[in-house]
Amino acid sequence: MPYSDPIAPADRPGSTTPLPQRTVTPKRILMCAPRHFDVTYSINPWMHPEKPSDAGSALVQWERLRDLYQELGHTVELIEPIPGLPDMVFAANGATVVDGKVLAARFRHMERTAEGPAYMEWFRTQGYTDVHWPEFINEGEGDYLLAGRRLLAGTGFRTDLRSHFEAQEFFGVPVTGLTLVDPRFYHLDTALAVLSDEEVMYFPEAFSAGSQAVLRELYPDAILATEEDAEVFGLNAFSDGRHVLLPSAATHLADKLRKRGFEPIGIDLPELLKAGGGAKCCTLELRG
Ligand code: ARG
Repeated sequence: MPYSDPIAPADRPGSTTPLPQRTVTPKRILMCAPRHFDVTYSINPWMHPEKPSDAGSALVQWERLRDLYQELGHTVELIEPIPGLPDMVFAANGATVVDGKVLAARFRHMERTAEGPAYMEWFRTQGYTDVHWPEFINEGEGDYLLAGRRLLAGTGFRTDLRSHFEAQEFFGVPVTGLTLVDPRFYHLDTALAVLSDEEVMYFPEAFSAGSQAVLRELYPDAILATEEDAEVFGLNAFSDGRHVLLPSAATHLADKLRKRGFEPIGIDLPELLKAGGGAKCCTLELRG
């Protein structure tokens, strides 16, 4: 019987399993230029209004992200930024869109409440007909992450637990609630990133014990982030199924991603990090 020795992939000495083939799913993305960006209030531990921040540099960094999406073959739509809403650049918080249905955002903090109706209006003018103004507080895709046909839902700091049921009823997909416990990781998308329909990476300590157990059960092979990776916002990552955009300082995560056949791309938004946001926060996925 002919026998051939399987060759271990170069960066995985000892491993005989071939790297999975990763393919890009072209995405439609909504973004908002940080023309009025500033840090004028503090609603998360990253925000220090007394320290200087600069809308000019924020814009240059954000444009790099927008260009990168386009170079990778994704479609970027834009919403006009509104003066006086410095956090509006974080489009992920603007709504949650699944199958063309839009669950509008209702913010926890009064400083951001006007963003909810502003984003909702954009969807209406774009011809979306199934737009739901929510009864309960939810901060859009900051706390709602779609993984295959399951909606992972954060709570603990921003999104109201009752919103999870509202989202499940509205979208008709199963919602899995996860409790965040570390104020540095106040939105789900700062503690967990969806890599493909079945794969995620996350920082376990950002979650309550029960939620950690749920994540272990759902994703036994998940990539686990170190505190170092989480602290540089490494989990605020965007995956198109092949490329994973994440801060270049998240080196351990990048290594682990490469070993699974993903292509990590370092993208830095230091100015926006002063508001507690990263690449994924600037990205609202328009599904369906
Ligand atoms: N300053 C904003 C806030 O605290 C940052 C939002 C970041 N967005 C996100 N999707 N994590 O609300």
